Amino acid sequence: MAALKILVIPGSVRTGSLNARLAAVAVKELALLDVDVTQISLGDFPLPIYDGDLEAKSGVPGNAVDLKRMIGAHHGVFIVSPEYNSSVPPLLKNAIDWVTRVRDRNETFGQVFRERAFAVGAASDGKFGGLRVLMALRQILALGCGATVIPQQVALSFADQAFDDMDRFKDERDALMLRATMRQLVDVAQQMM
Ligand SMILES: Cc1cc2nc3c(=O)[nH]c(=O)nc-3n(C[C@H](O)[C@H](O)[C@H](O)COP(=O)(O)O)c2cc1C
Repeated sequence: MAALKILVIPGSVRTGSLNARLAAVAVKELALLDVDVTQISLGDFPLPIYDGDLEAKSGVPGNAVDLKRMIGAHHGVFIVSPEYNSSVPPLLKNAIDWVTRVRDRNETFGQVFRERAFAVGAASDGKFGGLRVLMALRQILALGCGATVIPQQVALSFADQAFDDMDRFKDERDALMLRATMRQLVDVAQQMM
């Protein structure tokens, strides 16, 4: 059987992003589970704010097509998002919106989301660990895009103090939460292969 491929997408491109740090720990965890893992930056897929007039005039930007292809080349996706005002940051929502506008020949709406497993995670310096963005992201992915979003999730609270100098979790409970989520993602992605 072909190796399982998992894509990790941080929803922040900020220098020193806590979510990118969490994503990097997830990459290490996934490598231990023997999967092919790729972490991307949305900074490598710059997109204008979605505008129907722009789409009508110029079509879907090439970066949205490339991002969709990147998702389509993996069996599972872990999205790690900051929480902005209890919801999803515009960078990430805009990227998802554009990807949903890419329609390949012989493809139904949302196929790239429906055919693979998704997991969600958040890192916040607050005590709730981005729980509200996780709900919002689930709604977008599951209800909006028809994705299978696994029940396990990562809500990393007080994330600014969560990592040691080697970017490992200081608290074993955080490591267990990430491990359980990555294991479930791999299991469900394998079943959907
Ligand atoms: C506009 C804005 C709104 C925010 N709203 C929330 C929020 O609702 N809940 C929360 O826990 N943190 C909130 N934060 C703090 C972010 O979680 C924190 O800045 C986090 O480090 C951003 O993620 P990053 O480090 O990956 O860039 C907000 C930050 C910004 C800039």
